[in-house]
Amino acid sequence: VIQPVVLCGGSGTRLWPLSRPDRPKPFLPLLGKRTLFQQTLDRVADRSRFADPIVVAGGAHTPMIEDQAGRHHLIVEPHAKNTAPAIALAAARVPREAALLVCPSDHHIGDEDAFREGVEAAKSLAERGKLVCFGIAPDRPETGYGYIERGEALETGHAVSRFVEKPDSEAAESYLASGKFVWNGGIFLFRAGDYLDELAKHRPEMAKLIDEAVASGHSEGHVFCPGAAPFGGIAAESIDYAVMEATERAAVVSADMGWSDIGDWNALMIAREAAGLDLCAPGTQAVGADDIMTVSDGARISVVGLDDVIVVVDGDEVLVLSRDAAQSVRQLNPADRT
Ligand code: GDD
Ligand code: MG
Repeated sequence: VIQPVVLCGGSGTRLWPLSRPDRPKPFLPLLGKRTLFQQTLDRVADRSRFADPIVVAGGAHTPMIEDQAGRHHLIVEPHAKNTAPAIALAAARVPREAALLVCPSDHHIGDEDAFREGVEAAKSLAERGKLVCFGIAPDRPETGYGYIERGEALETGHAVSRFVEKPDSEAAESYLASGKFVWNGGIFLFRAGDYLDELAKHRPEMAKLIDEAVASGHSEGHVFCPGAAPFGGIAAESIDYAVMEATERAAVVSADMGWSDIGDWNALMIAREAAGLDLCAPGTQAVGADDIMTVSDGARISVVGLDDVIVVVDGDEVLVLSRDAAQSVRQLNPADRT
């Protein structure tokens, strides 16, 4: 069976006002009744194929995790050190041969069958020692993603000839134009021991501190707390920079699985449309207003004579934005956005 590792970290500031530090994106029901975190667990709920997931998260998230998902194996990070150390903690707690499926908790996958097919293909590569990422066909020169240049074809999937995390826009344009690159979907599959070996090779200091943090950690029931002092000494870094860009064992499986990382309100609107969900909150009135989305926790919203607009009402916060400026929500003053 495959061991899912579910990562809960980032805050999703571009989805303000719904996503806030005390109620971050993974824990919101953005697409349907279940939250993104719950949908991530649902995706790996088949216990004949997947082991009970290990959730890795900061202490602040623990109550929300137990609220939404009950008791799972939980590793509580004493500090936020990004994904390379978070994944290493999980890897160090399972047998070296265990196949880890690393799942971000804040993504949407529309086609679950394609996801499962991708997982099977990735598993067969991981059994041969590969560190496998999931490739997504790019449709724009997005600079917020990792880019993977596909190399020689393997029995399933491809070798990675180059992994470039978050290129500048000039490089992203040229990767898109070349037709040789796919986006990194942020989902990974590898054997725990292979990941730890690559980490030790490319980030020996981090690997050593992880060993110490695990050795000095303690368990309370289903919760494991690594030693705070060694973990605190780790230099924060993502798996993409620390391992995937450096390793020679990377492979990629392309999966056309209706993937979205729901990075902003416009991406959410596109994903909702694709999922056939209502775009407007109950009671919304639209007059001469095409392609709008409204989200409300109570107030009735009316839009007149404006197209391509998203309106979000949450308590005493109101956001009105043009779809094509969705990225700019992050420029709102963070001090006023708590
Ligand atoms: N437990 C834990 N601890 N989880 C974390 C931490 C941490 O310190 N930091 C981030 N995460 C979780 C986030 O919640 C998210 O689910 C996942 O790990 C990835 O982190 P992000 O911060 O969202 O990464 P990103 O979006 O900038 O980039 C990654 O994802 C892209 C696709 O969405 C990279 O893998 C890119 O290459 C990729 O294209
Ligand atoms: Mg992300």
